[in-house]
Amino acid sequence: MLTVALCKGRMLQSTLALLPTVGFTPAEDVIDSRKLIIEDAARPDVRYLLVKPVDVPAFVEHGAADVGLVGKDILYEAEADLHELLDLRSGVCRMVIAGFAGTNLRTVRRVATKYPRVAREFFGVRSQQIEIIDISGSVELAPLVGLSDCIVDLVETGRTLSENGLVILAEAGTISTRLVANRRSYQLKAAAIDELSDGLRRATEADSGAHDDTATGTVRQGAVS
Ligand code: PRP
Repeated sequence: MLTVALCKGRMLQSTLALLPTVGFTPAEDVIDSRKLIIEDAARPDVRYLLVKPVDVPAFVEHGAADVGLVGKDILYEAEADLHELLDLRSGVCRMVIAGFAGTNLRTVRRVATKYPRVAREFFGVRSQQIEIIDISGSVELAPLVGLSDCIVDLVETGRTLSENGLVILAEAGTISTRLVANRRSYQLKAAAIDELSDGLRRATEADSGAHDDTATGTVRQGAVS
């Protein structure tokens, strides 16, 4: 049995578009269903777990799932002991520092974020002491109500920032979806995992014309611009 952890939420649509093209097809309408374990339509040896994105590393690291599809942002924060097999170059977002226009990043003291590791590293390389305010959603609210001087968050379309009167102050990297595997499963279920990984790699390469070179994914310690 190969158990594949899928992220609920915004990534799910692009993942579900990709999986059937490489022979992995959930048997039910994953978006509509409330089931959390879904069988494959054709393969009795494959099933899917519907997991909150932030929990995918734990499910895979502890072997509850053999593989998972998850954003690099989540992996970077989790620091889980996993094999990262493939950059799917989908679900591409920017990790940014954002706030009110004119905010001087050198004077920032309080930073609200779902990504404390990114925030610590971004300001740490500038030897800048900050207080992290851990927020799990609607992070853009924090500067609006005086909870923080800026935020560190993902931007996809930029709508959430612009509709809340915030701007990008600096960039900290580019994020994309990764295929990860449990270390033991990677040994014991090599054939099935390689089939999925190779299929996704071919699909990704076939689509490479649409890629740009910035989607390589690791969060870098970008300079404050
Ligand atoms: C993410 C992110 C931003 C928003 C950016 O939040 O944290 O808030 O999406 O997307 P945009 O640039 O397309 O507007 P998410 O939708 O995951 O919800 P959350 O606020 O509950 O974290």
